[in-house]
Amino acid sequence: MAGLAAGLGALPLRTALAIKGGRPSRTARGAALQRAAHQLLETPLVFDDPLALRILGAQDASWLGANLEQYRGASARAMRAFLVMRSRYAEDELARAVAGGVRQYVVLGAGLDTFACRNPHPLLRVFEVDDPATQHWKRDLLKEQSIEVPSSATFAPVDFETQTLAAGLKAAGFRADSPAFFSWLGVVIYLSQGAVAETLRYVAARPQGSQVVFDFAPPSDSLGKSERARRAAAAARVAKAGEPWINYYNPGQLVDELRATGFSTARSLAAGDMNERYFSARADGFRLYGSGRMMNAEV
Ligand SMILES: C[S@@+](CC[C@H](N)C(=O)[O-])C[C@H]1O[C@@H](n2cnc3c(N)ncnc32)[C@H](O)[C@@H]1O
Repeated sequence: MAGLAAGLGALPLRTALAIKGGRPSRTARGAALQRAAHQLLETPLVFDDPLALRILGAQDASWLGANLEQYRGASARAMRAFLVMRSRYAEDELARAVAGGVRQYVVLGAGLDTFACRNPHPLLRVFEVDDPATQHWKRDLLKEQSIEVPSSATFAPVDFETQTLAAGLKAAGFRADSPAFFSWLGVVIYLSQGAVAETLRYVAARPQGSQVVFDFAPPSDSLGKSERARRAAAAARVAKAGEPWINYYNPGQLVDELRATGFSTARSLAAGDMNERYFSARADGFRLYGSGRMMNAEV
């Protein structure tokens, strides 16, 4: 615990929330559009999500159809490769955890992730945690699109900056005394280090067999010139959407801090690892380019 407390938790909580004014997350919409575009543009699929288009709602699905061209550019493709890889990786790791006996899955910062409605694991309970306004918007979309939410799924509205995951999950009926798998995709870069540290300490305190998978990015000053320029362009786009990237980690330090917090293993995976795993057999050049990384830590 000392590592995260000192290394990540020392910074004050950010009081200005990533999502301002109680409106749904625009980056959640952007990620969902990319997953839907993937279903339409790439073969074979890296991440097969039969609900990806439907969850968008009629208006956004038809907007995507009319604007598909802009998803064919190099930067949109690189961003999409990362987005679909992280979802695929999380669900692959989840399947492994379920095979090992885990029966609870917590989707942190779920956005329009559709796993809860596609859950193929009969004994798995799914807890969707998200900022309240975004979760409300998603639940409206699910209703509007008549997407059935199975009884295995429970929604837990939590603002990571001002509320604790422990309280949100407890209210949702999560069993804190049973192992759980957590995914946290596309979220930590928007949060204060204090909020991230608090959530990771909660996960580290779960029973043995628990695990978390999340993506993160190394600081810009650790990148080469062209990657720094790519990062700056992408960062400007999300900042314009009102959800700036504010939080970066040095991979080696993060591994050490997770170990010090109580995780028994922590592995940081770079684009090369993931290209080999998910993109090596392709002929269309769809692959990872950037500096984004995955973290996989087990209790
Ligand atoms: C880029 S989206 C990613 C959504 C989803 N995980 C995905 O991969 O499509 C960022 C998500 O983080 C959530 N988020 C950002 N700040 C948050 C906060 N302070 N508390 C709770 N959720 C937050 C947003 O609501 C949104 O769902």
